[in-house]
Amino acid sequence: MPITASPAWTALQQHADRLRGLHLRDLIQDAARCKAMTATVKDEDGPIHLDYSRQFATPETTGLLIDLARSADLAGSLEAMARGERLNRTENRSVLHHALRLPADEALTVDGVDIVAQVHDVLKNIKRFSDALRKGKRLGATGEPLTDVVAIGIGGSYLGPEFVAESLRTDPACAKAAAGRRLRFLANVDPIDVTRALDGLDPARTLVVVVSKTFTTAETMLNARTVRAWLVKALGKAAVAQHMVAVSTNLEAVEAFGIDPANAFGFWDWVGGRYSVCSAVGVLPLALHFGFAPVQRFLAGAHAIDRHFFTVPVEKNLPVLLGLYGVWNSSFLGHPARALLPYCQALHKLAPHIQQVDMESNGKRVDLDGAELGFAAGEIDFGEPGTNGQHSFYQLLHQGRVVPADFIGFRRSQQPLQLKGESVANHDELMANFFAQPDALAVGKTAAECRAEGVPEALVPHKVFPGNRPSNVLLLERLDPYSCGQLLALYEHRTAVQGFIWGIDSFDQWGVELGKVLAKQVRGQIAATRNDGDRIKGFNPSTSALLKRYLET
Ligand code: F6P
Repeated sequence: MPITASPAWTALQQHADRLRGLHLRDLIQDAARCKAMTATVKDEDGPIHLDYSRQFATPETTGLLIDLARSADLAGSLEAMARGERLNRTENRSVLHHALRLPADEALTVDGVDIVAQVHDVLKNIKRFSDALRKGKRLGATGEPLTDVVAIGIGGSYLGPEFVAESLRTDPACAKAAAGRRLRFLANVDPIDVTRALDGLDPARTLVVVVSKTFTTAETMLNARTVRAWLVKALGKAAVAQHMVAVSTNLEAVEAFGIDPANAFGFWDWVGGRYSVCSAVGVLPLALHFGFAPVQRFLAGAHAIDRHFFTVPVEKNLPVLLGLYGVWNSSFLGHPARALLPYCQALHKLAPHIQQVDMESNGKRVDLDGAELGFAAGEIDFGEPGTNGQHSFYQLLHQGRVVPADFIGFRRSQQPLQLKGESVANHDELMANFFAQPDALAVGKTAAECRAEGVPEALVPHKVFPGNRPSNVLLLERLDPYSCGQLLALYEHRTAVQGFIWGIDSFDQWGVELGKVLAKQVRGQIAATRNDGDRIKGFNPSTSALLKRYLET
């Protein structure tokens, strides 16, 4: 039975209708409601407080959403995920990215294989390799230390690692550990990205990590060949073995490319690309740059949220609450987009990563049995750190469309700073905005309030803020490797919760295939026309005309 046919779905639709006349301006004044709509991850290493009292909802809504979760057997899906059942039905794969962060002394056997042992074997190899390289025991072809790393990969083989690298770059301990080293990412097949990634690097001091789950992705393979040519030109063919390593599930293709299998770090088909940052995909480049210890803390933070996710009752379970309110906003209140607004510049790559995690996972049109959904699944995710976003798209959030938002803030900065004579520290200034914006969105400003302030009548409509715009507030202690791992897992699991409720396969991505096939046809045409002067054929009139214009000499 589709979830839309369940009494719980109908009850939520009716409930949404009943709430229509309410306003967050009033709801937020109810102290009992505010208290009820909070939840905290009690973790000595990194508590996380969620305040969802600015959702356009009441505690009754939470109860009805929990009924919906029960109807969708969310608990059953979580258990199946934890056990390693093949939840990715269209690819017949388990969904076990959480196993990548299990401690070595915990057991998880799937299809008779001890996958925790497998994970920790790779982690040990990475530790050995990265320690040797960082200590100068493993040198480049000319005997120079390998101080710089270029990680080549795209999508899930890039966005997560870059998000983590940027999050840790300004953490003082991580910055110290990375002193004298550079980590660059090369993702886009645009040759401009090659120039940017290699800018100022010396091939003799550079290690190239080719990251690709399939090792067939066109962009990554062309970039890998391009950077290999850069290495060979400077150091000769024999240097490739010392300067190129790989992360992949396709170790045969790695070898065929010319990378020594001894320098290949594996992972498994039960790790989806966009969920792979905790595998060698992220762990290798991050350990090379920051050392292994911070990466272990990052994995520990993610694991802490996994444990919370799989064990804490739904009403206090942060990823579940985030997911349920995602479903509420999208499916019952009709908001198609949502914003991710970290008040922390180091999280400037969080939104791009979560865009892939969420939109590639839940941007689906059919349910697990292939039947068309009777509703639009998935949200349009976007975001930018505050306060930058305030001077960009917040205008639309305040007076244009309603876009539910997540505000993420920290009690302490990675870089505390207070100038003499300033009334507040720089971080407090940032956080003043963090606390103000959710209320501006929720409460707004009425015409009467504008008039009371003496706003000229003609301007009143322009200065009214309708309010009633929902948001979550997430308050963490401080951004460090551990809390970075927590945030990652929190948002990964939010996506899973929504997918489980909607009854879709959140772990496949067939929607990216068609464009790749068409690009192959275009590539063939470009080659045939440029190399042999062939006529353009097989395209519609619009594309034919565009290609003609592009290929004209
Ligand atoms: O764009 C689709 C996709 O398959 C993503 O899901 C994946 O993260 C990315 O391409 C890169 O794939 P690979 O790691 O195999 O190169």
